[in-house]
Amino acid sequence: MPNAIQDAESLLENALIHFEDQPVGTVATCDPRVAAANYHDCFVRDFVPSALVFLLDGRTEIVRNFLHMVMRLKDQHEQLAGQHLAPGVLPASFKVTQETDGSEAVSADFGDRAIGRVAPVDSMMWWILLVRAYSRATGDRTLVELPECQRQIRQILNVCLQGRFEVFPTLLVPDGCFMIDRRMGVNGHPLEIQALFYAMLEASLELLVPDEGNQWLIELTRSRYAVLREYVQQFYWLDLARLNEIHRYSTEMFGHEIENPLNIYPESIPDWVVDWLPEGAGYLLGNLGPGRFDPRFFTQGNLLATMFGLASEPQSQQILHTFEQRWDDLIGRMPLKICYPALKDKEWRLVTGSDPKNTPWSYHNGGNWPVLLWPFVAACLQHGRRDLAERAYGVAEERLPRDGWPEYYDGRYGRLIGRRSNYDQVWSATALLLSRMMLDDPASLTRLGFGSLPQ
Ligand code: GLC
Repeated sequence: MPNAIQDAESLLENALIHFEDQPVGTVATCDPRVAAANYHDCFVRDFVPSALVFLLDGRTEIVRNFLHMVMRLKDQHEQLAGQHLAPGVLPASFKVTQETDGSEAVSADFGDRAIGRVAPVDSMMWWILLVRAYSRATGDRTLVELPECQRQIRQILNVCLQGRFEVFPTLLVPDGCFMIDRRMGVNGHPLEIQALFYAMLEASLELLVPDEGNQWLIELTRSRYAVLREYVQQFYWLDLARLNEIHRYSTEMFGHEIENPLNIYPESIPDWVVDWLPEGAGYLLGNLGPGRFDPRFFTQGNLLATMFGLASEPQSQQILHTFEQRWDDLIGRMPLKICYPALKDKEWRLVTGSDPKNTPWSYHNGGNWPVLLWPFVAACLQHGRRDLAERAYGVAEERLPRDGWPEYYDGRYGRLIGRRSNYDQVWSATALLLSRMMLDDPASLTRLGFGSLPQ
């Protein structure tokens, strides 16, 4: 068996992107045979585990360069007639190109080139979380105190906190604007975005300089942070008791103080969830909106909510208990399943638009993604479940280097390498590296501002 850690480290080295001789990021994959050209870009979300590994390794200048670079790129997006992106929105990815005169240029993709033209919402959230991680790890406040950086944080908060058409504290977003970046019925109020939004609000409170000009924004951020947590803990939570309540809900009720304010019809509860939900366990819904109850289990959203403290402590324990009780479904032969269960037949046609990459139990539609190992290990360590973290790590360590670091796996239990998966996918390797670092030193992630350890 190749040495998994050494193999992952050399993949990360090969993935570095330079601009004017400085390292500024990592490509999404080192596989030369990829179909989509942008897989050789540096994606903001894919760089997150690379960045955390670099910070823990003391290679902090790479992360600083990256944070600067992304901030500088925000003015690059094309202005389309009659439309413009809100100031503060950051790109999904960027790449360094050679000009004809031999100089280097950087070009960013705000979703205007991406397949399906999806604009990312998570990039700006991950960027703020990395600014905090960098500041915590280095103790260097000079970056965050730069006027440019303070302005960027304010702009991001403005985009997310401005009043639009909403009556919920959650954030309304289009389909595919985060890790799941194709049509998967994840528009509306997907859990993953709510967890990132929550953590971003918390990080901003730490990063904004508390001067007079920022005071109103700090107040607004603080109150949204509190109501968001309360709302998610109450309305997104699903356990057997709650399922029973929803099963017997009254509907068509008007006014305040009613049991079913979103007018969820009990008839919309899918059959699978009734049998699947384990006793004594629970998890957060994938999505929730007017008349909409999506109980698909979205792993990244549940793990981030657990890691960031959006779920309460008892809820976090129960979420981890769900992983334990449904190990084959959620972890199987490769940690971890991106969402459970898969959409099939008519539902697949209607919800994905007949996407052949998202067939049942493949890619975003129930595939297994090695990158999800690191938030799983972090969440387990924070909530006293080292046993689960080690078990999942063991599965990944044994298989990933042997299989050539695939991007994702197919099948009910993740037994097959994904049909259209890249090899040498960088975040599959950095997830393993980061998980090893956390298992060896559980306090490491806390030092970067990612959650806290049990008291
Ligand atoms: C795919 C994934 C997305 C990732 C990108 C680069 O589009 O869905 O989450 O950022 O590949 O790896």
